[in-house]
Amino acid sequence: MQRLATALTAAAFILGTMVPSIAMSSAQYPRGNGDINNGKAIFDNGKGDVPACSSCHGADGMGDDNMGTPRIAGQFAIFLRKQLEDFATDKRMDTTMFVMNANAKGLSPKDRNDVATYLESIKPKTSNFKGSDLKAIKEAGTVPVGQTHKGKSLVEWGQGNRAKPVPACKACHGYNGRGAPPVYPRIGGQRYVYLVNQLKKWRDGTRANDPMSQMQKVARNMSDEDIYNAAAYLTKASDYSDGNFFTPYDRH
Ligand code: HEC
Ligand code: HEC
Repeated sequence: MQRLATALTAAAFILGTMVPSIAMSSAQYPRGNGDINNGKAIFDNGKGDVPACSSCHGADGMGDDNMGTPRIAGQFAIFLRKQLEDFATDKRMDTTMFVMNANAKGLSPKDRNDVATYLESIKPKTSNFKGSDLKAIKEAGTVPVGQTHKGKSLVEWGQGNRAKPVPACKACHGYNGRGAPPVYPRIGGQRYVYLVNQLKKWRDGTRANDPMSQMQKVARNMSDEDIYNAAAYLTKASDYSDGNFFTPYDRH
C-alpha cells in the first residue's frame, strides 16, 4: 500500500511537471494573419451576394441551435480558413442549410482569411454564451438530449471495453475539447445541435473532409446515445481545469 501510494505520488509529480511544457508548446501555433477590419465588415454586413455571417451565426458569432449553425467566434483561424476553403472547393458540403458552399465561393481567398482572422480574435469571455440551452432543446423535442455525466466519461476516457471502441475525444481535441491547433478544432462550448449533426455526418460519411479520415473512424463507432451524451457534455464544458486561470491559447 505504502509503495503504491509512493508510486502514485511520483506519477502525479511527473505529470504535474509535464503539463506546463505541453501547454507552452501548444501555444505556438499559427494565428490568423488577415485583415481584422475587413473580416469584421464581412461578418457584420456580408459582401456582394454573400449575406452577413451574423445573420445565421449570431451577432456574437456564437451560433444558433434552431438553425443548426455552429459557434464560429473564438475558433482557431487556421481551422476556420480550412473549412471555408473546403466549402469553396466542395470538399465539404453544407447539408444543413445548403448555404455555406455558395457563401465561401462568394468570398475571395483573402476575404476568407480575413473573416477567419476576425473570428479568432473574438474573445469567448466577452460573450454571455455558456453552451446551448439543453432544457429548451429537450422541451422543443426535435433533437434528443443526452446525459452529461456519460458524455464526460467519453470525452475524458473514451470507451474501450466493447466491440466498437471509441477513443477519448480529449486525446485529439485537448482538455474538455478546448482544441489543439492547428489540426484539432475547439469542440468544447460548441452548439449542441451542431455537434450532434456533425457527428452523424462523420458517421455516415456526408462529411468527409477530415485528414486521414480521423473523425469518420471515431464517429463510425459511436451509437446515437454516445453522440447525444458527448454533445451534451461538450456544449457546457469549460476551457479551464480546476484552479487554472489560463488555457494554452489565452494571450496574456
Ligand atoms: C444562411 C445562413 C448562413 C450564413 C449567412 C452563413 N453561414 Fe456559415 N454556416 C451555416 C450553417 C447551416 C453551417 C453548418 C453546416 C453544416 O452543418 O455542415 C455553417 C457552417 C460554417 C462554418 C463551419 C464551422 C465549423 O466549425 O466547421 C464556418 C467556418 C462558417 N459557417 C463561416 C461563415 C462565414 C464566415 C459566413 C459569412 C461570410 C457565414 N458562415 C455565413 C449557415 C450560414
Ligand atoms: C484521432 C483524432 C481524433 C479523435 C480521437 C477525435 N477527433 Fe474529432 N476531429 C478530429 C479532426 C482532425 C477534426 C477536424 C476535421 C476537419 O479538418 O474538418 C475533428 C473534428 C470534429 C468535429 C467537427 C468540429 C467542427 O467545428 O466542425 C466534431 C464535432 C468532433 N471532431 C467531435 C469529436 C468527438 C465527440 C470525439 C470523441 C468521441 C472526437 N471528435 C475525437 C480528430 C479527432
